[in-house]
Amino acid sequence: MTERTLVLLKPDAQRRGLIGEIIGRIERKANWEITALELRTLDAGTLEQHYGEHQGKPFYEPLMGFMQSGPVVALIVEGERVVEGVRQLAGPTDPIAAAPGSIRGDFGTIVRENLIHASDSPESAEREVKLFFPGRA
Ligand code: PPS
Repeated sequence: MTERTLVLLKPDAQRRGLIGEIIGRIERKANWEITALELRTLDAGTLEQHYGEHQGKPFYEPLMGFMQSGPVVALIVEGERVVEGVRQLAGPTDPIAAAPGSIRGDFGTIVRENLIHASDSPESAEREVKLFFPGRA
């Protein structure tokens, strides 16, 4: 089933020169297509909407600070089972638990600086696409 997902390459990906590597992994996947791509610095308001469900958790404030520490690359990726697929490609939140071959398993360092965000469900993807690319609703 064709669907779309919202991907953010986090500020550590830009700082470490890993944007091309990560985008390459997404692009090499057959049947997926990048249909929007933008480098931008996120403001607190956008991040509050994006991470609103985590407000009050101990990692919320550090996450907000980290996500404003440099530019992110926002992408829409479309294709067959792409929501589940990009999450698989990224690996679990904690890089130590991520298998080699996944983005976090190969390049991740600490939990906060885990390189990539990918929508966790088709419903989240639709909400996040509208937030980051309002023209693509
Ligand atoms: S939860 O509570 O299980 O829903 O949290 P989780 O899905 O693992 O993570 C939600 C987002 O918060 C980020 N995260 C953290 N950031 C900073 N520090 C710590 N310790 C931390 N733990 C989780 C995590 O990467 C998720 O962000 P995204 O952008 O979706 O990857």
